[in-house]
Amino acid sequence: MSAELINVCYIVAAALFIFGLKQLGSPATAVRGNLLSATGMLIAIVVTLFSRGILEFQWILAAAAVGALIGAVAAQKVAMTAMPEMVALFNGSGGVASLLVGWAALYNTGNTTFTYITILLSVLIGGVTFSGSIIAWGKLSEVMPSRALVFGAQRAVNALILIALVACGVLFCLDPALDSPYLYAVVALSLLFGVMVVIPIGGADMPVVISLLNSYSGLAACAAGFAIQNNILIVAGSLVGAAGIILTNIMCKAMNRSLANVLFSGFGAVKTASKVEGEVKPIAAEDAFLILEAASSVAFVPGYGMAVAQAQHVVRELGELLEGNGAEVSYAIHPVAGRMPGHMNVLLAEANVPYDQLIEMDDINPRIENIDVAVVIGANDVVNPAAREDEDSPIYGMPIINVDQARTVFVLKRSMASGFAGVDNPLFFGENTRMLFGDAKASISAVVGEFKS
Ligand code: TAP
Repeated sequence: MSAELINVCYIVAAALFIFGLKQLGSPATAVRGNLLSATGMLIAIVVTLFSRGILEFQWILAAAAVGALIGAVAAQKVAMTAMPEMVALFNGSGGVASLLVGWAALYNTGNTTFTYITILLSVLIGGVTFSGSIIAWGKLSEVMPSRALVFGAQRAVNALILIALVACGVLFCLDPALDSPYLYAVVALSLLFGVMVVIPIGGADMPVVISLLNSYSGLAACAAGFAIQNNILIVAGSLVGAAGIILTNIMCKAMNRSLANVLFSGFGAVKTASKVEGEVKPIAAEDAFLILEAASSVAFVPGYGMAVAQAQHVVRELGELLEGNGAEVSYAIHPVAGRMPGHMNVLLAEANVPYDQLIEMDDINPRIENIDVAVVIGANDVVNPAAREDEDSPIYGMPIINVDQARTVFVLKRSMASGFAGVDNPLFFGENTRMLFGDAKASISAVVGEFKS
């Protein structure tokens, strides 16, 4: 293939990545966006393999078939609640791939000092991304304790590792021999550094860490792209790096915390739950039905528990019944409800909830006082008024959906247990709150049953 044709194919692939990313911004176009980006990646990989004469046609087809099969089975099997773990493993794979590609580039002839620096960066960032992602996966899947693991002098130890990393990196670039002991040291230290920076972060913050590691995997790929002088790898890596950091920023904002606070505060190490007491008013599904039947506006507020209960389909069914009954129905979406960005959007899209009924937190809050019934389905932290009122609360300052200001609130959950942040929720004791205890899917199904009978 001529260099021009290769670059034209790469430009097409890059355009597909960019359009795909843009379409991922809305649930209505996200599936198409994903498909576009995947097509771009297929073009990029096939062209690269052809252009360098690396593999013959039949091997590319065979590998694509095996890859597609593994991808399809994995996508079918993974539970929606386990998606962040899967993304962590993807990031880790990206990191180790960049490490190996960068390292292999050392064997190319005609490398310049700039190439050696990019080799160093891809090995270093790839190593940190790989081991950090494995720890993030371990915490989320509870293979290891999800709490923050902190010990005295941790920051000093991390600073020493970082200094050693930089020193070995400089020494490698000064004398970039094939068997340079400094490169081996960089590999080992970067893997160690990845572990050390993630272990002091609590499980509740893992989605932010995963998004940050996603950004790192992009930077590592970009550096590897420079090391092997492959334009599309540079473009793809830059896009992933930028998208990852933007998403990280969005999540931090939604929790009203800085990235530094997420990375260095050891949040979740000690759960200083402020005790809340009062009278809890349980309600049965039959009585909840009577109130809902009389309501003219209902807002569903989903959270992690809806994902656990897989209640999205019955929630949509209840929404339709309420609409049929003349009520205005909306779904209030908190940016960090659930365990991954867009978690609630994905679940509700899967249940075919119309996109125009999905209302962002900032849009629903100003009109929440006019909502007759706010139905909180397995959400806890994202509707906790302590975030607004209790300065001592670990989640103080995090924007929430102000369901306590609706006329009536139903909270659907199984017990009085706290949410992921481990803090009590005064909402449960509110004057206008009724607790509908039980699995969210069972509770909603019972209300649907009342409507139908
Ligand atoms: P949580 O605060 O984690 O609360 C979920 C609630 O669901 C629990 O209190 C649990 O109570 C209930 N639940 C679990 N299984 C249930 C079932 N089968 N039926 C009914 N209820 C069930 O969830 P949230 O309000 O969505 O908040 C998300 C948390 O994750 C926040 O702290 C947020 O900062 C953090 N976080 C999220 C992200 C992203 S990107 N989403 C990123 C970083 C951090 P019971 O056990 O009593 O049922």
